[in-house]
Amino acid sequence: MLLTIPGVIPKPQLERIGQLLVRGEFKDGKLSAGREAQRVKSNQELVQEPDLYTALNNLLMGCLIQNPIYQQAVLPRRIAAPYYARYTAGMRYGDHIDDPIMGAGADQYRSDVSITVFLSDPGDYEGGELVIRSSYGEQCIKLNAGDAVLYPSSSLHHINEVTQGERRVAVTWAQSLVRDPGQRELLYQLCQAREKLLVERPDSEETAWISNSYANLVRMWSEL
Ligand code: NI
Repeated sequence: MLLTIPGVIPKPQLERIGQLLVRGEFKDGKLSAGREAQRVKSNQELVQEPDLYTALNNLLMGCLIQNPIYQQAVLPRRIAAPYYARYTAGMRYGDHIDDPIMGAGADQYRSDVSITVFLSDPGDYEGGELVIRSSYGEQCIKLNAGDAVLYPSSSLHHINEVTQGERRVAVTWAQSLVRDPGQRELLYQLCQAREKLLVERPDSEETAWISNSYANLVRMWSEL
């Protein structure tokens, strides 16, 4: 399931993130890429200077992890600290799938869901679309600053070359309680129905059936 969430980062936080990123130092993104991705990756990533990085993460992740759509769609078990990437004219990231296992040692986790938070407005740059190949064809994504897109980490994707301006994004990955993307999608749809029924018909027997089935499917399919 490919899902866009508008307005994950409210304007005041977005402005603060922009101010912090201006102060940051960026390095070649190839340094953090696996061998396969190095061939196709051309961008820059924020150097993780501790004070600046913590301030950015508190703002960005604080908004993302509290977002109800993110929670319902991802069913997160673990989420990584993000990368902050920028693409200026001539930069791109060719076709790749994200690494299946992220982190090191005891902090290792599986990437089930890839998340991109857009930090530039579409008018700030030309090109730079995130193109995700799905079973329904290619999806071309270029969202407003503060919006996010979630997609299965198993998807082949690339970033078109930026031809003008600057594209800034935060990218992160979550391990889900539910590994299978098809099961997550069913749970997400059932959860939407349940939320609506709980508001519109809180006392009906059908609402209880849907609500209980949702809870028991999460129990059946989740792994801890
Ligand atoms: Ni990627």
